[in-house]
Amino acid sequence: MKQRTHTCGELTRAQVGQSVVLNGWVQRRRDHGAVMFIDLRDRTGLTQVVFNAERNAAVHKAAHTLRSECVVSIAGQVMARPDESRNPNLPTGEIEVFVDEVEILNEAKTPPFVIEDEAEVTEAIRLKYRYLDLRRPKMQRLLGIRHAVAQAARGYLNAEGFLEVETPVLTKSTPEGARDYLVPSRVNAGQFFALPQSPQLFKQVLMVSGVDRYYQIARCFRDEDLRNDRQPEFTQIDLELSFVDRQQVMALMERMIVTIFKEAGGVQLPTPFPRMTYAEAMGRYGSDKPDLRFDMPLYDVTAFGAASAFKVFKDAAAKGGIVKALIVKGGAALSRTRIDALGETAKTFGAKGLAWLKMTTEGQLESVIAKFLDAKAFAVALPEAKPGDLVLFGADKSAVVHDVLGRIRLLLGEELNLIDKTAWKPLWVTEFPLLDYSPEEKRYVFMHNPFAAPMDEDLALLDSDPLKVRAKAYDMVLNGSEIGGGSIRNHRSEIQLKILDLLGINKDQAQAKFGFLLEALDYGAPPHGGIAFGLDRMIMLLGGADSIRDVIAFPKTQRAQCPLTDAPSAVSQDQLKELRIKLDLVE
Ligand code: AMO
Ligand code: AMP
Repeated sequence: MKQRTHTCGELTRAQVGQSVVLNGWVQRRRDHGAVMFIDLRDRTGLTQVVFNAERNAAVHKAAHTLRSECVVSIAGQVMARPDESRNPNLPTGEIEVFVDEVEILNEAKTPPFVIEDEAEVTEAIRLKYRYLDLRRPKMQRLLGIRHAVAQAARGYLNAEGFLEVETPVLTKSTPEGARDYLVPSRVNAGQFFALPQSPQLFKQVLMVSGVDRYYQIARCFRDEDLRNDRQPEFTQIDLELSFVDRQQVMALMERMIVTIFKEAGGVQLPTPFPRMTYAEAMGRYGSDKPDLRFDMPLYDVTAFGAASAFKVFKDAAAKGGIVKALIVKGGAALSRTRIDALGETAKTFGAKGLAWLKMTTEGQLESVIAKFLDAKAFAVALPEAKPGDLVLFGADKSAVVHDVLGRIRLLLGEELNLIDKTAWKPLWVTEFPLLDYSPEEKRYVFMHNPFAAPMDEDLALLDSDPLKVRAKAYDMVLNGSEIGGGSIRNHRSEIQLKILDLLGINKDQAQAKFGFLLEALDYGAPPHGGIAFGLDRMIMLLGGADSIRDVIAFPKTQRAQCPLTDAPSAVSQDQLKELRIKLDLVE
């Protein structure tokens, strides 16, 4: 095989006249009789190569055997293209290579889809033939961004004095709130490793070890329901720092994300990132990861609802719930069918209904519930609603109203094209509640993870009103997506034990689950805190990918399977026997 002198993406007018060798795949062949054109492709791009019968009859004849995706090496001369056949859309569009020698390095079967970005192909086929799918320029670009993000992160963190440390994959369960993937131990029959949901426990132990600043581009495993931005196996840029407070962590991390977006994607994120408490985010946008690319806030009209004659509003307020409103600018033009459909959607989100009213151009209220409402009182309660607007209402417990209206807000943002898709809107969400209450389990559950420290001023509330305790936790949100989250931790075991106790994890259970961390805290744990960023989500945003599967070389399907390798799969009786496992599947 002749070694290439250039890649398929680099020849320009500067090399006209030179003899070159290119290696690559046949993208497509165009037969013009005495002249045959082939687009030769490698990771860097395409070059048009020309087999000219007059120049070299044998080579021209050989070109007829070249089929899509076969692998070739060609030697030839770079020529300037005639003016009319220049392609300004291609970096190599000014030139073509006239072939003097061709060698077929490998044949290729006809691929199940054409190797082009716009190929019509299902995701199942793409994942089965992932090696062909990854040849497509879009996928190569995303792999490139992934590489650049990882390098930019490493570069930044190295310069800031972080040490990259690997933590085990065969380990014990980490409490991040999902189900564990388990691995049976042969040597210790009947016992299981858990794959880590994050390196949380180890990174805290590393702080006790005096590592001071740790990072890892770490694989995490969570057996949870999959969505477009969730994989069972995903990657975090995971960090932990000693002797820091929230402000220091947030400032350092904000600079890191700005650096990564600039270096890996040429994106200048607007700084400083706004900060919003959890209470503000929920109250104003009905979400702890608000999409700030459009405004459309939720307005509190509980007092108006309580004083109105509409039973739904009055009852909600009387029961300690809230009434909130969304204003759809110019929405009075929406049809009744459309509004009813929104109401049905709201019900699927858990609402009992979605009351609405239109503001007529005369400033009147038009609605089936208008008779229960006082137009003047409404104008005072919600002066932001103008003639021509549609107002949607949620009345219920605050958690329900916020969730439903938050989701209706996002849906309308998309449907009515209110979202500026060119905008970058990062923010920090802070002061998350430490605990939540699970009515199903009738107990407190953690909001972030059980290691987050309470805010100093809320410490006393741990005894009197635990749900009011705020944590020193922070999430980074970008365009409505949670790209990272972390907290300052409990570095003293007594507070940690107290929180575990509130979570219903007693001393013995705590000892069994993460006794090693609790014990480590007692050997001089420094104050510490950290964060983990979802690398895959970050790349999705930076690369404009619709699915997390597009930014992972070998992802799992929504059913947590890998069509390329057919994993997971049954194992042999012998393997099971070695593990001393007998299968007895219950339906
Ligand atoms: P958390 O669970 O919030 O925190 O995870 C951090 C970030 O990881 C990303 N992420 C995911 N990405 C893809 N698929 C998933 N299934 C998935 N789950 C989470 C999100 C999220 O913001 N140990 C703590 C961090 C800490 O406190 O330092 C943790 O893992 O972008
Ligand atoms: P009804 O009195 O049930 O006929 O409802 C009148 C209007 O109020 C309808 O548009 C319902 O969708 C709406 N509605 C009912 N319950 C609620 C609720 N909890 N929050 C907001 N709107 C509601």
